[in-house]
Amino acid sequence: MCGIFAVVNDKTNNAAQTVLTGLKKLEYRGYDSWGIAIKSAPSTSEVDGGQKLVIEKHIGKIGDAKTNLPAGNTAIGHTRWATHGGVSDANAHPHLDCTGKLAVIHNGIVENYLEFKEELIKKGHQFSSETDTEIIAHLVEEKIKSQPITQAVFTTFNSLIGSNAIGVIDFDSETIIACRNGSPLVVGVDEKNQQYFLGSDVPAFLKYTNKVHFLDDSEAVVITKKGIRLFDLKTGKEKKLSIQNLDWKLEDAEKGGYPHFLLKEIMEQKETIGKTASINEKEIKELAKLIKEGYKTILIGCGTASYCALAGKYFLANEGIISQNYGAYEYLPFSKFADKKTLVIAISQSGETADTLIAVRAAKKNRAKIVAVVNARGSTLERMADIVLAVSAGPEIAVVSTKAFTAQLATLYLLSKAVENKYDEGKKLIKNLSESLDQIFTVQSINRLIDLAKSLIDKEHIFVIGKHLNFPAAMEFALKIKETSYLHAEAFAAGELKHGVITLIQKETPCFVLASKDDVKGEILSSAAELKARGGRIIGVAPFESAEFDEVIKTPDLGNLTIFANVIVGQLLGYYLGIGRGADPDKPRNLAKSVTVK
Ligand code: F6R
Repeated sequence: MCGIFAVVNDKTNNAAQTVLTGLKKLEYRGYDSWGIAIKSAPSTSEVDGGQKLVIEKHIGKIGDAKTNLPAGNTAIGHTRWATHGGVSDANAHPHLDCTGKLAVIHNGIVENYLEFKEELIKKGHQFSSETDTEIIAHLVEEKIKSQPITQAVFTTFNSLIGSNAIGVIDFDSETIIACRNGSPLVVGVDEKNQQYFLGSDVPAFLKYTNKVHFLDDSEAVVITKKGIRLFDLKTGKEKKLSIQNLDWKLEDAEKGGYPHFLLKEIMEQKETIGKTASINEKEIKELAKLIKEGYKTILIGCGTASYCALAGKYFLANEGIISQNYGAYEYLPFSKFADKKTLVIAISQSGETADTLIAVRAAKKNRAKIVAVVNARGSTLERMADIVLAVSAGPEIAVVSTKAFTAQLATLYLLSKAVENKYDEGKKLIKNLSESLDQIFTVQSINRLIDLAKSLIDKEHIFVIGKHLNFPAAMEFALKIKETSYLHAEAFAAGELKHGVITLIQKETPCFVLASKDDVKGEILSSAAELKARGGRIIGVAPFESAEFDEVIKTPDLGNLTIFANVIVGQLLGYYLGIGRGADPDKPRNLAKSVTVK
């Protein structure tokens, strides 16, 4: 939800271009509009009389945008996912104060902005947008009348209610000040060139440095040409930066020859799933021990992560462990039952999803142990957790989740095997799965999926059914199609069909049947037969042929792990349907990668 990026002491003296390039890497966080503010270099001081920040804003995706902003070495930029105020140039960030010397970029929602706005208008401040963000610029403008800029930004930020991260550029001191409470911020230090970066996420500046400090809630940074200083927003005291070297490579944040990040990330699963099985052994075994000791196990997540949670419930049940699962946004009424013998396993790619964090906070209040199954590093969820299972799928740039999902799924599978004291066997099976995926990625098999996508392009509805482990797989399969192609795809538990859903099936309605060679194979085929009897076009996604299928996408037979392959077929189909229907597979409409608002 909104991307923040800034550079101080840009060595090219073309900070606007550096920010633009960084924003392109953050576009997955929001693509309603974008904007940049720069302090122009003295040689270009004729712009705005040289006494004001120079600003450029546009609605729409950044795409191949170029900027004509003047030279300069300090700039901030923003890519927006609109909350308050429609999608317009005026509402795009950065937002200026009345003097044009302060500009603010913001990720989050200022819940009490209206009170401030009324007061500021009474004091004569002129507003140019409908956003909650703009009040921040005017509040700082008021406060610098009596306080140094750093103090003015800190006290302004402390008066905001809500989950927020802000970046402020000050013309006079050529400083960038950033504060965090609930929305992510990270700084990067390029020691060699003495240039400093601020971002919502690391890929924005990975090209320059992998030395980072992730800000905690109630932390602020003051970035000048001399470097980065860290402060505690509650006490105002300076703290020591804790710089870590991330093992991310630049290629991780590039398309690497693929037309879209989504396709690259789908393909990467051949490696990422196997890699997940080589890490976290100690933590997984520790967790398995707690589960065996009788801790009540609750799995939560949102969207794709919630389907992973549901699959985890089936994996654990297979090993004789009862657990519960919730969409994190529905967990609050049940959080009162959490206690110190409860494990809340929170699954999240970003570790910043507001609904998940709210659920975790509620459980934590009741002394539950928190486990984070998370992909992005340095996240809020990671820091709130007692046990962290970092799944290490690498940066996931496409908005829809693919490789993070399968890495999380593999981690939960390993957990269930560890509960059964068969961790090593699980690890072997996951590695074997990784190798078997080649079968789905052959040219022949991809061409088959492209042909299938072509035949579905003009359909209005697609149905997907699955049973037991293939039920969460069906949910994820349908979500991928919806998100990337905007085609209405709905998943159901096969058992649910005859209780109502079957009325929707007509002649030629596409019905995907996800199946494995498991003990419910016969039942799912009976459901397929029921769909067929109503005229449905039955497309099996399974490691076997069947008379009930009109056609089949054969997946490798991997026992309980077949669902990995079945879901990947849905990812690929969603991708090609999206291309065929003219959607942008990396940036589906109305979505943002990291949903940091309630
Ligand atoms: C689906 C998707 C979303 C996310 C959900 C949770 O492709 O990307 O449904 O899975 O918003 O996000 P995280 O995993 O970051 O908590």
